[in-house]
Amino acid sequence: MSFTRRQILAGLAGVSVLGLGAGGARYWLGRPEEARTHDYELIAAPLDVELVPGHRTSVWAYGGQAPGLELRARQGDWLRVRFVNRLPEPSTIHWHGIRLPLEMDGVPYVSQLPVLPGEYFDYRFRLPDAGSFWYHPHTASGEQLGRGLVGPLIVEEREPSGFRHERTLSLKSWHVDGQGVFGEFSVPREAARGGTPGRLTTVNGEAAPTLELPAGQIVRLRILNLDNTLTYRLNLPDAEARIYALDGNPVAPRPLGKEYWLGPGMRIELGLRVPAAGVELPLRNGPLRLATLKSVDGGEAPGDWPAALPANPVPEPDLAAAESLRFNFEWAGALSTNTEQGGAFKFWQINGQAWDINDKSCAERPIATLRQGRSYIFELRNVSQYQHPIHLHGMTFKVLDSNRRKITPYFTDTYLLGRNETARVALVADNPGLWMFHCHVVDHMETGLMAAIKVA
Ligand code: C2O
Ligand code: CU
Ligand code: CU
Repeated sequence: MSFTRRQILAGLAGVSVLGLGAGGARYWLGRPEEARTHDYELIAAPLDVELVPGHRTSVWAYGGQAPGLELRARQGDWLRVRFVNRLPEPSTIHWHGIRLPLEMDGVPYVSQLPVLPGEYFDYRFRLPDAGSFWYHPHTASGEQLGRGLVGPLIVEEREPSGFRHERTLSLKSWHVDGQGVFGEFSVPREAARGGTPGRLTTVNGEAAPTLELPAGQIVRLRILNLDNTLTYRLNLPDAEARIYALDGNPVAPRPLGKEYWLGPGMRIELGLRVPAAGVELPLRNGPLRLATLKSVDGGEAPGDWPAALPANPVPEPDLAAAESLRFNFEWAGALSTNTEQGGAFKFWQINGQAWDINDKSCAERPIATLRQGRSYIFELRNVSQYQHPIHLHGMTFKVLDSNRRKITPYFTDTYLLGRNETARVALVADNPGLWMFHCHVVDHMETGLMAAIKVA
């Protein structure tokens, strides 16, 4: 692939002339040019925060926060973000779940060249879908996401949704020790299994916070798993909660039930009936408390359950005419021979092919080529003993069925494929480009479990 034109653009963007004052404290600006337009300047930079009480952790922040600044825009609008890299290394931003042109997808050497320290890059794209999305780099992901470069992107519905209150809860577990010092983001022994877990679990960057919610109201909770590794087994015992959306797409509202498994990269939107003032509800991961939801009196009349959220304009795959493709997710288990010389470990592969994050030519060998405009059914077969949140860039797919659980078909960008599970998903290949298809357990992705799918 030729980068001539883009190289020129990157060259033009190469001078760091942004008006950071002497204090350097201007982390972001929101400057709408007109009422319905958003315009962010998003700076990625090192920042000291207190994750462990009494200790400093040097995270990497977007907009002066880790997890990053919440970006908000409205469905149908353009999102225009000037990404300014003040990190000590190259980076990019990928907009997880957003259906956008390849040039804006943030994959280095596929969408764009990496943005070098001191440079900036302008991302501009329209937002076709409303929902809870997120953003993160697609370069040195283990370390960059691990240090905190993950942030929510909320796309509001065009019309009021019926929820008067909402909260965003970004889940992340940090690879820090008791003094707040970062350890390894990926350990080969763990990468070859379920992935390397962080030890300190936080919600919005705080361990087990208490979040105040208005008594008697139905609050929209947007819960985002921005973690590198962990699948959270979300539950809200004794609460009245309904699922309104999964991974950025509305579903017919249904009770949360006992537990929902939210894999890395996945999101869930709940309606929660907040109990009477003074009551505290635990939000949990299995038996562990993630946060306390505390009801406080807001003096408002009680709210009612909003209707289902409006569907996004995702094209409906034509199942009768669809071509089927099979993807096997396999454990490769072989230590690559060149790791001493900087080669990547390869523990995982898709259809016998392991992606090498250090080999820029991998993207030139797509694992499948789809004809633009046609429908496809992907049969996703996990032939390993670990679960994989399988994510596709550029297009939203519909989950059809699974051999392991009952599925009510729904649209998503990430499907948590359980051990030895086979699931079928379908999509219309309507977005031309070269799209990454990978497991969102970051150290699985970085040790082979990634491929490129071409739509032409
Ligand atoms: Cu969150 Cu390649 O994606
Ligand atoms: Cu993505
Ligand atoms: Cu995986």
